[in-house]
Amino acid sequence: MTEVILGGLERAFAQGGNRLCFIDPRDPNRIIKVLRPDRSADIKRAKQSFPRNLKPLRYFDENWQEQRVYQKIQIAVGDAAYDLIPRCYGLVATDCGPGLVTEMIKDHDGRVSLSLKQCIWQQGKARSLMAVVEDFVQRWGELGMPSRNLLLHNIVVQQSVDGPKRLVVIDGLGWADIVPLAYRCPRLARWKARRKAQRLPQAMDQLLEKQRTGQDWGYHGWLDEEQRIVAAGSSAASQTDR
Ligand SMILES: Nc1ncnc2c1ncn2[C@@H]1O[C@H](COP(=O)(O)OP(=O)(O)OP(=O)(O)O)[C@@H](O)[C@H]1O
Ligand SMILES: [Mg+2]
Repeated sequence: MTEVILGGLERAFAQGGNRLCFIDPRDPNRIIKVLRPDRSADIKRAKQSFPRNLKPLRYFDENWQEQRVYQKIQIAVGDAAYDLIPRCYGLVATDCGPGLVTEMIKDHDGRVSLSLKQCIWQQGKARSLMAVVEDFVQRWGELGMPSRNLLLHNIVVQQSVDGPKRLVVIDGLGWADIVPLAYRCPRLARWKARRKAQRLPQAMDQLLEKQRTGQDWGYHGWLDEEQRIVAAGSSAASQTDR
């Protein structure tokens, strides 16, 4: 299989707790996520005790799990889901290990969209932002979108020329239940999704309270201006710890 050349881990434009994110050198409208070497599937499996450590390696691979979740979302929800999550283009081999290719969420000016966490930190609960949050909460519940708890650093705010346009969940998809009945039961899915989305305003208040009391930003979800500039094959600054 032909390998996509990402050119080294230091070329990632962003990273989370598990993955490094690269601009797809074949298409700057796409992002490729690879597992961080310190968060590889075999390291994760080695930390499990018996009998969980007997599971196949792919069960500990976040990219493999996520592409499976995308397949389930396509079946359970269909195309309407892509108003709320990026499109997924499957797995590819890269020189930095297997990568998951998804749509890059960008603003009207071509810059990578900021996380909801960063928008709230920088602008507070602006009315225009809260309007798109409300739309999101409504739609997420109506579609019964599968997710873990929705975290502010796993949601980005796409901006149009006129201001915030929509929220997009870029990570943390899929029901976490051992037997995820909600994939087959739309009513249950809607109930669970509504509950998760309705917790967002509270999470925003908690973040603002953290800021007000002089606490730290934390680790996740901050992009500096130079990290937001997308050009095919561009190298990127390392993500700032804040
Ligand atoms: N599709 C996307 N469009 C725009 N930016 C994205 C996209 N996917 C990821 N990012 C950026 O990359 C960062 C890290 O990505 P992601 O959350 O997928 O990594 P992770 O390691 O799985 O995260 P976690 O620590 O939550 O497990 C995000 O906070 C976001 O800034
Ligand atoms: Mg994340």
